[in-house]
Parts: sequence; C-alpha cells; structure tokens
Amino acid sequence: MNEIVLECRDVGHWFGSNRVLNEINLQVAAGQIVALVGPSGCGKSTLLRAILGTHPPKQGDILANGRKVTRPNRDVGIVYQNYSLYDFLTARDNVAFGLMLDETSLLTRCLKPFEYRKLRNVHREKAMAYLEKVGLAKAAHLFPAEMSGGMRQRVAIAQALIMEPQILLLDEPFGALDEATREELQLMLLRLYQENREAKQAGVKPPYTILIVTHELNEAIYVSDRVLGLSQYHEGGEQGATIVYDKAAPVFHPGDARNFEEFERQKDELRNAVFDPEQNQHHAEYVAFWQNLK
Ligand SMILES: Nc1ncnc2c1ncn2[C@@H]1O[C@H](COP(=O)(O)OP(=O)(O)OP(=O)(O)O)[C@@H](O)[C@H]1O
Ligand SMILES: [Mg+2]
Repeated sequence: MNEIVLECRDVGHWFGSNRVLNEINLQVAAGQIVALVGPSGCGKSTLLRAILGTHPPKQGDILANGRKVTRPNRDVGIVYQNYSLYDFLTARDNVAFGLMLDETSLLTRCLKPFEYRKLRNVHREKAMAYLEKVGLAKAAHLFPAEMSGGMRQRVAIAQALIMEPQILLLDEPFGALDEATREELQLMLLRLYQENREAKQAGVKPPYTILIVTHELNEAIYVSDRVLGLSQYHEGGEQGATIVYDKAAPVFHPGDARNFEEFERQKDELRNAVFDPEQNQHHAEYVAFWQNLK
C-alpha cells in the first residue's frame, strides 16, 4: 500500500568538528506531503542537499525510489526560495527546457531539425499541462521579467514537476513571498495533494511526493499530511540534529476554512519537542507517525 520512495538510513553529516546531522532514519511513502521544521541552522538544507545528491552524507545511505543516491538524478527535484528561471525564455519554454535538455541530444538539435521540432512540440504541450496545474496557463507567454514573484515561483515548481521526480524537495519555497501570494501557493499544494488522493482512490500511484522545509508552523501543518521536526535539542544533541518529531498533520481540502486555532495543540507540541533548547528528554514518544498508522 505505502510504497516507500525516500529512505534515509542512519544518515550523519558533519563539517570539520561541527556535527550537523546524526542518525537520521526516515521513510517517506509515495503521495505524502511532508513538512520539515526545525531551529535555524539545525541542518534542514544540509539534509535536503544530501537527498538531492549534490552533497552525499558522510555516514549512512539515502535511497530514492529504491536506488542509493550518490549524485543528482531525475528521481529527486528541488526548488529553492529564489527561483532560478531563464530570463530569455517564456514561462512555457522555461518549464519545457529541462525535458528538452534531458530528452534531446545536441546532435538531434543541430542535425535533425524535423525530429527536434516534433519533440519540442511534445515538450511544450506537456509544459502547458504543468503550467495549468500551478494555475498559470494564461501566463505561458510571459517572460520572467513580466511576472510577479509568486508567478515566477510557480513556474519554478512546474519546471521541477515536469521532470516527474519521485520526490520533490522544496526549501523554504514561499519564504520571499508576501502573505497573500504565499496563501495562493499553499492552496496550489493542497490541489496537488487532492490529485494524489484521487490517484489513490483510482488505485494508481499518487504522482506527487513532496518534502517541504518551512519555518512557518501554520504553513507546515496546513499544507502537509505529516510533520517532521529536525533538531539538535535532544539528549544526544552534541552529536548533531536528528528527527525528534514525526506525526500526522490534519489534511485540508482546497476549499476548507483555514482555522489556524485548531493547530494550537500541535504547534505547542512542536515548540516543545523541536524548538525548545531546554528539551533534553527522550523524544521517542513524538516520533510516532508509522506506529500511529498501525
Ligand atoms: N558548506 C558548509 N561548510 C561548513 N558548514 C556548513 C556548510 N553548510 C552548512 N554548514 C553548517 O551546517 C549547519 C546547518 O546548516 P543548514 O544550512 O543545513 O541549516 P538550516 O537548518 O537549513 O538553517 P536555516 O533554517 O537557517 O536555513 C550550520 O551550522 C551551518 O553553519
Ligand atoms: Mg536552510
């Protein structure tokens, strides 16, 4: 039922004498939207870079889609806070660009113009479908300079989604956006989750598995179905941060009211288990996602 698409096995990482990550054990199932929270500097981006494969961990293994991650690959995609679009391409061609690079060789592009044009049309059609998913079909012809920050970030997400990664990493993706734009992008994630639910109901593999880092606890609980806390505030903290919190989060539908008051209990729990420097207790009781499922 729960196909595991990301696994961290006893992952540890350090920079010189600075021990950052220790004994990270984690399994993420296809179709989950997992929020990752933790104190600033605890190692969230370091963990994402290890999963991405640009900076493999010094200890332990990471498996994406069952394969050990040793370098960047198509199984894992990432979007950062500061979108990286090509200024000289429209929204549609920015989204299609990765596929073009991946699926056509320089030789095809130069020497087989007919074949290339055919493929380019296929890629552009696919790009339009992904722009639609992120609510930008009408902006397909705009260049980055003609878009708002929120639009650019949607294009960046479509750019990552079109590669159909087994897992998509989002590192504080909405951090640079104003509140209203941020809320629109949160809704976009809820709509992707809705697609996951529909796929599950139809008995097919849900298409989007997402690990999103955010420092906003309301956002973490609202957009995800599972919240992970990474923290150095635990009994073995001098060895590095580990997963000290892992629980389900309430699932919202795109039309639901955002009643953040309902979140207070879980936010208190997170502040206590993940963000409190005095927290030196054993944290096993908070790492209960899979146990609670049984
Ligand atoms: N390339 C590097 N060289 C040396 N130390 C590094 C490097 N990258 C990160 N660190 C250190 O590793 C620790 C974790 O950094 P990281 O950026 O992963 O934290 P973070 O949880 O993403 O923080 P934030 O919430 O502020 O983004 C910090 O102490 C940081 O100084
Ligand atoms: Mg970071």
